[in-house]
Amino acid sequence: MKILIIGDIFGVSGKSIIEKYLIKYKNFFKPDLIIANGENVSKGGKSLIKKDYDFLMNCGIDYFTMGNHTFHNKEINNYINDVNNMVRPSNYKNKVKGQGFLIFNVDGKKILLMNLLGASFMNISVKNPFLTADQILKNNKYDIAILDFHAETTSEKKVLANYLKDQVTIFYGTHTHIQTSDLYIWDQKMAYITDIGMTGIRDSAIGIRFKEVTNFLKNGVKERFYEANEGVEIFNAILVEIDEKTNLPNKVTRISDIY
Ligand SMILES: [Fe+2]
Repeated sequence: MKILIIGDIFGVSGKSIIEKYLIKYKNFFKPDLIIANGENVSKGGKSLIKKDYDFLMNCGIDYFTMGNHTFHNKEINNYINDVNNMVRPSNYKNKVKGQGFLIFNVDGKKILLMNLLGASFMNISVKNPFLTADQILKNNKYDIAILDFHAETTSEKKVLANYLKDQVTIFYGTHTHIQTSDLYIWDQKMAYITDIGMTGIRDSAIGIRFKEVTNFLKNGVKERFYEANEGVEIFNAILVEIDEKTNLPNKVTRISDIY
């Protein structure tokens, strides 16, 4: 089984990159499942409104994971309980709508898809991601477990990955928007990358145009930020191939293409 996983799709340009180029990767790799992080798609790089969700589904994305901006646009509350292919982080401390993990079938395999928020530097109130992962993995039956760990620090990602490597088949990081070059199969058991990186405008402050961010960081002047909307486009993803007999990853490919 081949699984294509796309990192944070950022804003209008991210959507446009998916619309133009996803078909190329579909035709070349022929993935059985396409998952993308959708928490930065809508206005200002925050949340995923229904119109954008429909748009990305039409482009070929099968499942969505989310992150700290999931509920930034309240419109998502109107539909998140009605769709069966979106996973928001399962460790919010506050009660929120939507599902924290999903179990579904692909080619006769039971896939468990999870999404967790990191506890470090996240500025959001979360339950312990280690304990939340333990609980989900212990209470569910699955052939292949996939975890999007939406977290800020490389160390927190690596430590949780090591902790879960006997139970999770694909562990990948999102949220920093910069792809790390460490994709590998850990102990022949788990595909791992610290961060897949974003799909959006490469030369930007992780998706936001430089002008106002520079003024803020240099001079302390806080003004409205805008999505970067011109320049080199980057498509960041990974492809993981899973052995049909063992349900373990046997080949990983890192994708970081510019257009
Ligand atoms: Fe994020």
